[in-house]
Amino acid sequence: KDYRDVPIVIIGSGYGGAVSALRLCEAGKKVVLLEMGLNWEKAGIPFSNLLKPGKSSAWLKTKSIAPFMNIFSLTPFTGTLDRLDFDHIKIWVGRGVGGGSLVNGGMAVTPKESYFKEVFPDLDAEKFYSHYFPLVREELKVNVIDEQFLKDCPYYKFTRVGEEEAHKAGFKTIRVPNVYDFKYMEKEFRNEVPRSALNTEVIYGNNHGKNSLDKTYLRKAMETGNLEILDLHRVQTIQLNDDKSYTLNVQQTDTSGALIADKVFTCKKLILSAGTMGTLQLLLQSNAENGFPIHEKIGKNWGNNGNFMTGRNWVKPLSGGTGAKQSTIPVGGIDNWDDPEHPFFTEIAPLPMGMDVATALYLLINRVDKKGDVFYNKTSQSLTLNWNESNTLKMRENAQYFIRKMNKANGGTRSHLLFDNGFGADICYHPLGGCVLNEATNEYGKLKDHENLYVLDGSLIPGTIGVNPFVTITAIAEYCIENLIRKNEFA
Ligand code: FDA
Repeated sequence: KDYRDVPIVIIGSGYGGAVSALRLCEAGKKVVLLEMGLNWEKAGIPFSNLLKPGKSSAWLKTKSIAPFMNIFSLTPFTGTLDRLDFDHIKIWVGRGVGGGSLVNGGMAVTPKESYFKEVFPDLDAEKFYSHYFPLVREELKVNVIDEQFLKDCPYYKFTRVGEEEAHKAGFKTIRVPNVYDFKYMEKEFRNEVPRSALNTEVIYGNNHGKNSLDKTYLRKAMETGNLEILDLHRVQTIQLNDDKSYTLNVQQTDTSGALIADKVFTCKKLILSAGTMGTLQLLLQSNAENGFPIHEKIGKNWGNNGNFMTGRNWVKPLSGGTGAKQSTIPVGGIDNWDDPEHPFFTEIAPLPMGMDVATALYLLINRVDKKGDVFYNKTSQSLTLNWNESNTLKMRENAQYFIRKMNKANGGTRSHLLFDNGFGADICYHPLGGCVLNEATNEYGKLKDHENLYVLDGSLIPGTIGVNPFVTITAIAEYCIENLIRKNEFA
């Protein structure tokens, strides 16, 4: 098949790409979506769980790359989880049809309205809270755990203990919605259906229960008959042509990463939805290699969404810790955002190691007071991140404050089991920014200095949103694509 004159190409099948694909296909447009990862549903290969990492567990690595306890050797395969290592930060990303939705914890959190307004002063917050956020919660199938099930289920002891301890320390807790179907989870607990969340399935994909994008937006887009998804197709560079169309140099690989074919695509309209790091890589690398025009704001205003991991050991040792059995789907959080001294939100995270490790794990989300920049280093031919300990100083202070307060009220020590000094300052699940809405793009994600190029993914958010980001990424993408279509950008 000739891909020399495609009307619309989308690169990447995460949240931004899936929303764009659905809305364009519904509007009757033919769309080709290029995804470097595997179409797992089509391939029919099951995802592996945390305790037995297999094919899906890592992107072309010889060893597993979970944030901790990587004792497993692997045969390189185009798995769902990748890790990008920089000097002071490690960034985990999802690969495959569905992008980050395949690997993430499914926590579907709408940001606080006051913070959303602070981060996006130019957006119509009222419209977001009355229309776009409710719309995406519906499309993503967001739901909430039944309180009685949470109270009774042995797999949620870690949440009950976490909440009880937080209250004792004077913190406020909140229930966290998720895209995992909690009705399915109740059935798996009763052994009526195959187990998934209760079978340590997370971060390497999920075989049942979880409504990842392949089951929501992308499935709907496929049903229009207007979407073609080419998996295992990695875009290497983009060139701008004289007639303002784009040429894409693409490598098709097999599941061992070996090259099958070098392909050239040309398209009139191009949407970059390769995720924050993927989109920045494409823009900055193309600029370095072929003079691809980029605006001066590309790479600026990048942040880790205040991600900072920490943990405590020997939580309530006398009452048996957080439990040997743990669901992989988090449902509890501690909301300390309104504390002027130490504003943060933290997930009460599971640690499903198959035994009671008497350890509580927390992923803090903080403000990002000092943003970073992303560059392309021509010598090493890779992205460079201007980011170090100074960027996470306040996050560390918040984590210290949190752990001290929790330990004072409940006993326990800072977790040296999980992290060298008890803090995982360099762990990032939520890279955001670098191609910020209304700075590097116009108000709807159209890139400045370009007529036919759009960015629709996490890079539009200026480095911070105060909660887990995919609900916001999806809502911003809905807002942008709706307006781009309305303005006849894809006519
Ligand atoms: P996303 O990263 O989803 O998709 C980009 C896609 O583009 C990928 O499939 C990639 O393979 C593809 N791609 C990249 N470069 C390409 C190229 N050159 N050619 C072709 N394809 C290319 N968030 C949240 O709200 N709640 C949560 O519970 C969690 N939990 C969580 C856990 C873990 C382990 C991770 C890694 C992340 C989370 N997140 C999360 C974060 C969330 O998953 C993330 O913010 C979104 O997936 C980002 O959506 P995007 O649309 O920006 O890109």
